[in-house]
Amino acid sequence: MTNQANKENMTANTVGRLCFRNVNALAPMVRVGTLPTRLLSLDYGADIVYSEELIDIKMAQCQRVVNEVLETVDFVAPDERVMFRTCEKEKDRVVFQMVGYTRELSLSAMENDVAAIDVNMGCPKEYSTKGGMGAALLSDPDKIEAILRTLVKGVSKPVTCKIRILPTLEDTLSLVKRIENTGVAAIAVHGRLKDERPRHPVHCDFIQAIAEAVSIPVIANGGSLDRVKAHADIEEFRKATGASSVMVARAAMWNPSVFRSQGLLSVEEVMEEYLKYAIRYDNHAFNTKYCLCQMLRDKVESPLGKQLKSAQTNKEICEGYGLQEYYKKTQAELQARREAIQTNHNHPNQPVLDGDVTTMHVKFERREYPGEFSPKMFLLEWSRKENLEQPRYETVQRSQDRAFQSMVTMTGKKYRSTLWEKSKKYAEQASAIVCLRVLGLPEGRAGEEYSGLVGKRKREKNNEMPDEEDTTTYFGARKRHLSENPEEQRVTNYSK
Ligand SMILES: Cc1cc2nc3c(=O)[nH]c(=O)nc-3n(C[C@H](O)[C@H](O)[C@H](O)COP(=O)(O)O)c2cc1C
Repeated sequence: MTNQANKENMTANTVGRLCFRNVNALAPMVRVGTLPTRLLSLDYGADIVYSEELIDIKMAQCQRVVNEVLETVDFVAPDERVMFRTCEKEKDRVVFQMVGYTRELSLSAMENDVAAIDVNMGCPKEYSTKGGMGAALLSDPDKIEAILRTLVKGVSKPVTCKIRILPTLEDTLSLVKRIENTGVAAIAVHGRLKDERPRHPVHCDFIQAIAEAVSIPVIANGGSLDRVKAHADIEEFRKATGASSVMVARAAMWNPSVFRSQGLLSVEEVMEEYLKYAIRYDNHAFNTKYCLCQMLRDKVESPLGKQLKSAQTNKEICEGYGLQEYYKKTQAELQARREAIQTNHNHPNQPVLDGDVTTMHVKFERREYPGEFSPKMFLLEWSRKENLEQPRYETVQRSQDRAFQSMVTMTGKKYRSTLWEKSKKYAEQASAIVCLRVLGLPEGRAGEEYSGLVGKRKREKNNEMPDEEDTTTYFGARKRHLSENPEEQRVTNYSK
């Protein structure tokens, strides 16, 4: 066990928050670290995936959009460009990396969609250093401290930072101790100086000294070229640096299956899997091309490379990989979903079959149900009356806005509203409404025609004998109507 691992074993795990101990991470990489690469890296075994660095000011201008068709959350710039796209599958493991820090950037808009926030303090590129950000921050520890303290205080998710080493070990250790004191959850160390290029050897001794000096997890980085080529090398790099975790950039850019404990896959195989994600999540074709070209490396002049270079769309890219059928099928699925969503929006009263679930665009508005009987109660009462199994509710909560969606099963059939509700209770009511409307049953809405069920309950409350005949007639009539002409009942009842 490494010194860091030893120390960390004595530190309790923080439950429910992303843990940076003993993890293999996909490093942040501009253009490479978009959704398809991140998902593929997770598939192959990465524990954590960093986004590409995104400039704070640009993010501040973005609007958060829930993309119902792709099932993603998009941060969209004023020019309609998707700056950051994420989905459920990575929500607990994606770290959003930002460069720069201004007060305009409201991280609260996105902190629910990611597992942690990282600040890049190692970027040597002019666009970030000229504004005093990126690697320029390394010579301004006061500013580093101020930024990190503000973020740690203001963000509910773990905050980390990524640095490069300083010319002397003494200065480097002094810096990382100050960083540790800000309360960050981990520190990623690219073991090179600001002016060193990726071809220069990585300074494992500096990373080791840092790992000795601090108690928070240190994520070693910089080993791709000469040390990390396959999964087993990651562990070697971890040992050589004494760090808790390892972050891999270029080796993963060339072949994300570097995270695969069973060994590397061929680049051809990996490219195909990458492309599938790119299509499924409608990745920008230029970005898809760029990432595939990085995987091809010196084979860019091969026939496949040439085809890739000339392709302008994801569809054309697919042709080179024999994935035309997959492309068509995925497009058809996305189109079907688009239409179903559109139908729901245009004809809120029209039921749409989504797999084996009947869906409608229904929202439970409390004020529309002024009586003491909720749609759920109506459904339950009906099931009892008909000697049927009681309705069964299954509810899910989505991460991006903590909203709820419920599905009710009644007589083996499933019903769901396409709309998400602010509470579990409301989501159940909405699904009950869908079921009641499709079955043509009363739901207790204001102005609804007289319901025998309501009458029965009221009489029970008044200690009168319930008028069995009344409710039976009511439901009986409805039931006959349903079984005789289900289409007609749908049309009749949607207008309620
Ligand atoms: C294409 C590319 C883009 C990069 N973009 C970022 C970035 O957005 N943020 C960052 O902190 N580092 C970035 N880096 C640096 C890497 O995260 C990493 O620190 C560096 O490549 C050393 O790690 P490696 O030896 O595993 O490649 C980038 C590197 C490459 C190759």
